[in-house]
Amino acid sequence: MPLADDDDDKWVYRPHTAAKHEVLGKYLTPWVNKLTSYNLAADNPNKIRVVDCFAGRGSYVDTDSTEPIDLESVSTPAEIPGSPQLILDRLTNRADQFDSAECVFIEANSTNYETLSETIAGTTGYADNISIRCEHGEFQNTVLDVVETLDGSDCPTFFFIDPFGFSSLDYDVVAKIGSTPQFEFLITFMSRDMNRFLESEDHEEALNTVFGNETWREEIGEYDSTNWVPLVEYYTDRLEANGPDETFEYMISEPETTQTIYYLVYGTNHPEGLRTMREVMSYCGTGKFAYAPKQPEYDRNQARLFGGGDETKQFLQDRFEEYIVTFDKLVETCTEERRYQDATEADYREALRELEQEGAVDIQRITSKETGIQGSDLIDFHDSTEFMG
Ligand SMILES: C[S@@+](CC[C@H](N)C(=O)[O-])C[C@H]1O[C@@H](n2cnc3c(N)ncnc32)[C@H](O)[C@@H]1O
Repeated sequence: MPLADDDDDKWVYRPHTAAKHEVLGKYLTPWVNKLTSYNLAADNPNKIRVVDCFAGRGSYVDTDSTEPIDLESVSTPAEIPGSPQLILDRLTNRADQFDSAECVFIEANSTNYETLSETIAGTTGYADNISIRCEHGEFQNTVLDVVETLDGSDCPTFFFIDPFGFSSLDYDVVAKIGSTPQFEFLITFMSRDMNRFLESEDHEEALNTVFGNETWREEIGEYDSTNWVPLVEYYTDRLEANGPDETFEYMISEPETTQTIYYLVYGTNHPEGLRTMREVMSYCGTGKFAYAPKQPEYDRNQARLFGGGDETKQFLQDRFEEYIVTFDKLVETCTEERRYQDATEADYREALRELEQEGAVDIQRITSKETGIQGSDLIDFHDSTEFMG
């Protein structure tokens, strides 16, 4: 028998929970920075919103020696807090940047909802310009109405979609969220559970709902218990078909084995969002966009050992040889075209610095004052005939 969602055994804070919270917590800060700047530039009300669609209890019962979230501003009765407090804390740290922020916490299970409500009621220290709404209901049936009754779709909104399994991951709802210009999401895509049930007729309908069609089995092609990449790639392709323009995946595996537990799937309609999340995911976990302590290929220290700098330099020279390009556009293009390669923004900057020293590029500082490379600085690859910016 599967455990009920309010069974204490499901509420142990594990390494994979911490790995997930690391990404969420580290992304929220640059997300607030960017979206509040966007609000101001667009002359919109300076308001943002975070919807924790599977909010949980806001309280874990135990850890297996995993460090719980470090809250900087918020105090909470929970000894081991969950995503709701993490969201409140990270928004509070940037509260001077917005006029108001709404946090919505949706939870379906009655017992968990009760604990969540009590825990949030006892939570203090979050900024005065943050409002909280706890909603007892199912994500798939409530989220769109809740957003509508708040302020509709024009307020930049981040959705954290973190179910235990996959049965509530309704494709139509996720695609609707993802297709809304100012909305972004981070989904826990439970590939381990899904993989377990792929051949089970009892779960056929649930999987049809997740993928939004009945043809997924033939379309995914080769998949087996040791290779789930086709599964998550098919899912992100399906989302991009009707949802967000861009997606990005982050793998989370068991700490002591090579088994993947789930992927975090991020969706956005903005290249800038993709660039930011990719940077965050590059320095979270063990490396190469993953938390996978037992897999050397995801060890950032080993990857650094083998360099990659020359390859990056060569790529830049080949790709941009005909262009004068701004640094921002160069990074955006590389993010798009070399999505899962190791190189980060800092690596591109370093490669350009070396190319400049070798005389292979000229850099005209526009944003940078002296020797930096950033923003609108112009990179001239010498054979340039066209501007890209
Ligand atoms: C993985 S836990 C959430 C953990 C929480 N996000 C955190 O990081 O601390 C998933 C939660 O979703 C709740 N849940 C299950 N089905 C749901 C649904 N359809 N809509 C909303 N919540 C649901 C469960 O009761 C459980 O509390």
